[in-house]
Amino acid sequence: MTDASGQILKSEMTTQRPLAAIVLAAGKGTRMKSDLPKVMHAIGGKPMVRHVLDAAASLGAERIVVVVGPGMELLTHHVAPLPTVIQTEQRGTADAVRAAIPALEGFSGDVLVLYGDVPLVRAESLARLRAARAEGIGLVIYGMRAPPSSASGPNAYGRLVLGPDGTLDRIVEFLDANQDERALPLCNSGILLADGARLGDWLARVKNDNAKGEFYLTDIVALARQDGLKVAVVEGSHDEVAGVNSRAELAVAEATFQSFMRESAMADGVTLSDPSSVWFSADVKLGRDVIVHPHVVFGPGVTVGDGVEIKSFSHLEGATVERGAVIGPFARLRPGTQVGEQAHVGNFVELKNTVLGKGAKANHLTYLGDATVGAGSNIGAGTITCNYDGFGKYRTVIGENAFIGSNSSLVAPVKIGNGAYVGSSSVITKDVPDDALAIARGRQSNKEGWAAGFRARMAHLVKKKG
Ligand code: UD1
Ligand code: MG
Repeated sequence: MTDASGQILKSEMTTQRPLAAIVLAAGKGTRMKSDLPKVMHAIGGKPMVRHVLDAAASLGAERIVVVVGPGMELLTHHVAPLPTVIQTEQRGTADAVRAAIPALEGFSGDVLVLYGDVPLVRAESLARLRAARAEGIGLVIYGMRAPPSSASGPNAYGRLVLGPDGTLDRIVEFLDANQDERALPLCNSGILLADGARLGDWLARVKNDNAKGEFYLTDIVALARQDGLKVAVVEGSHDEVAGVNSRAELAVAEATFQSFMRESAMADGVTLSDPSSVWFSADVKLGRDVIVHPHVVFGPGVTVGDGVEIKSFSHLEGATVERGAVIGPFARLRPGTQVGEQAHVGNFVELKNTVLGKGAKANHLTYLGDATVGAGSNIGAGTITCNYDGFGKYRTVIGENAFIGSNSSLVAPVKIGNGAYVGSSSVITKDVPDDALAIARGRQSNKEGWAAGFRARMAHLVKKKG
């Protein structure tokens, strides 16, 4: 952006300052009562820490360091190739940030501190922190107004103490605050953006003479003020910065995330006829004019093209659905599935690792696993691909415009040619040529008059007994 004289505006320049992010995740998460590190618990099917890393990356952080606790190899492995540092003892948030500083060797710019257990923060909100960094503002705090209590109990966040000019004077931790300070409405989310050139010095000056005996990161506010700098507060919504410390809070964060996803799907042109009953994973991609009926679950890895209709009680995971297809009700699409344009997948149909061609139909009671179905083919009710023999998985390949009669079993590996017919109830074990009819079932024989004779014999017997 430029002003009338063609100069780059200051706000633009400040948002271009290089950015590094430090993600705090050393907490044991005792209250989760879990074998998993807390930040590895998922929201929308994605580990909390990954939400945070994605936000930092989309904000343009050129370096990201994660602070982990001892014995968190799973977490270290998950975030790789991003670097991790181990904070051996949990001595407070300032100590955790201090542990990460050596890993930012050679970086100069702004440093953003994020929490691995505050997963819903959005890159757009963090961008406001970057925009607030200006000449004379050495530190920006992300604040919010929290409700008096939450799933974890009463509001025990740190309180933001503002000076007469509306800028921040200091942060007082709840345990250290007096009654008046505890009544202050503005709270600390924990997220902050600092001038990287000064951060190391502030951290070195933080002491632990407080209620918890910890090194509080929040103390750097007062230190910045002592150095004559102003500290800005950017206010955001509590929903976005709610922390997760227990399973109950995980559920609250999941609910918030789900409502974010529903809102953004609708904003992008998707109809959700009953939004609260549609379940999203973090990476779902839905096209324009997609219609989703009540009670649909999107597992991870789902992409849906424009104009697709997904009817109630369908479950999709690892699947791509192309333009104009109709899914459900009661359909299950499992990983590796690709449903072509205008194709139909109806009730009680399960597809796994299967490609259903353009305009093909599998409308009732069918299992297609490890199969390729050509364009325009019709798969009759009750068709089963027998893809597994207890050891290996085998493919069924069906050509274009083929017709598979109801209740057929296709024993893989097997090929059905283009335009071929399979008679109902066949068990197909051999390839079927193009345009052939395959029938593989017991031949029918009719015995004329047998039923009438049978009834007459039985009636005679009953009469004799009586
Ligand atoms: C912190 C803030 C408080 C804020 C609140 C928001 C401080 C001193 N206080 O308090 O003002 O309202 O967050 O949720 O910063 N961690 C480490 N190593 C440590 C200590 C913490 O990695 O030694 C990590 C934790 O895993 C967690 C985060 O830092 O992700 C916050 O730590 P926590 O102990 O929950 O801080 P709070 O007391 O909640
Ligand atoms: Mg906390």
